[in-house]
Amino acid sequence: MGEKYKTGLLGWIDARFPLSKMWNEHLAEYYAPKNFNFWYYFGSLALLVLVIQILTGIWLTMNYKPDAALAFNSVEYIMRDVNWGWLIRYMHSTGASFFFIVVYLHMFRGLMYGSFKKPRELIWIFGMIIYVCLMAEAFMGYLLPWGQMSYWGAQVIISLFGAIPGIGDALALWIRGDYVISDATLNRFFAFHVIAVPIILLAMVVLHILALHEVGSNNPDGVEIKKNKGADGKPVDGIPFHPYYSVKDIVGVIVFLIFFSIVIFFMPEMGGWFLEKDNFVPADPLKTPEHIVPLWYFTPFYAVLRAVPDKFLGVVAMGGAIVVLFFLPWLDRSPVKSIRYRGMVYKVALGIFVVSFIALGYLGTQPATPVLTNFARLFSLLYFGFFVSLLFMHKFEKTKPVPDRVTSK
Ligand code: HEM
Repeated sequence: MGEKYKTGLLGWIDARFPLSKMWNEHLAEYYAPKNFNFWYYFGSLALLVLVIQILTGIWLTMNYKPDAALAFNSVEYIMRDVNWGWLIRYMHSTGASFFFIVVYLHMFRGLMYGSFKKPRELIWIFGMIIYVCLMAEAFMGYLLPWGQMSYWGAQVIISLFGAIPGIGDALALWIRGDYVISDATLNRFFAFHVIAVPIILLAMVVLHILALHEVGSNNPDGVEIKKNKGADGKPVDGIPFHPYYSVKDIVGVIVFLIFFSIVIFFMPEMGGWFLEKDNFVPADPLKTPEHIVPLWYFTPFYAVLRAVPDKFLGVVAMGGAIVVLFFLPWLDRSPVKSIRYRGMVYKVALGIFVVSFIALGYLGTQPATPVLTNFARLFSLLYFGFFVSLLFMHKFEKTKPVPDRVTSK
């Protein structure tokens, strides 16, 4: 594109706005490594889920009432009386869980291929800000149906701020806007959920992709394709994102939509994992549910919280489990990016880390019996141990030589 479109509507626009320039820079002439594999589907899928959440969210807002007296019934009204309301609501609730599935796999890919390492630290940092925004978005969205779990979940999490010495109680009061979770809390969570956090989220996704396109994508070999350019100045191991990957990503989209549809149409509650049973009961400030459990994507951190006997230190550990991820680019000192060329020690450490995260996720859903709490302590130590081990691992890790060119075709 370019010269031949100097006339016509596109020419008119291009003379006033860099439309073709942007198209070329980010799609038609964005050279991506030719060896992307399965793990590279999840970035575009995260974009897809983001769009689904925003669109279904807009339509839900048309009938939802952010009022403690009306909220629960307005959701039931959407489910029963609004045309296709059930579909829009289930797309949104299922979309929340799928968002986390996709993003966790996307982050795991980063851990496997060292995609957070120089020069991609900022891509990772923006990604982590996105992740924190997603958690805030999911937490606040969950209060909106004003069911028992919405109410008591928010009650438990906000009261955690009360554990901070000195300012805790005042802070919790300030967040709630009342002495208990109330209409005031619902209203402000609605404001944050539908406008404030999505704006930050969208801005961060733009920055995430701009940072990615500045340095170029990593790949399963961890080879910098920009270091190897042909006579035409293009990376020899690169192919234009469009049409090659735009078309390949459609395959991912179709497979994703099949799974997404199966859940929406056949198991929208996913046995209580995606929509908890207690949340089909209207919020009752006088009746605490037997087990207050957050949704699965929060439970690894919830398990870390409960593993620590002291409430404040538990909050610190839980926060630390998230914050430590921000520092990954500086904790991992290995010069080798991809797991393909890293030593056995990294493979084992990453394996233990993943098992710990999943185990914590399971333990967070269970009642905190003494035995399970001890397991949660063990897996919390292993979780943090991964990050500590990274500081020293490079000293004895036996890495393999990294090739100059990508290996797979
Ligand atoms: C709404 C959420 C997100 C969206 C829409 C998104 C989008 C994308 C896209 C489209 C790509 C390029 C395609 C690909 O490499 O798969 C990408 C790459 C990347 N993302 Fe994300 N992302 C999100 C969240 C995150 C999070 C939470 C992290 C980590 C904390 C992260 C870290 C990365 C990294 C390191 C890369 C570069 C990967 C590489 O070149 O190997 N992203 N992201």
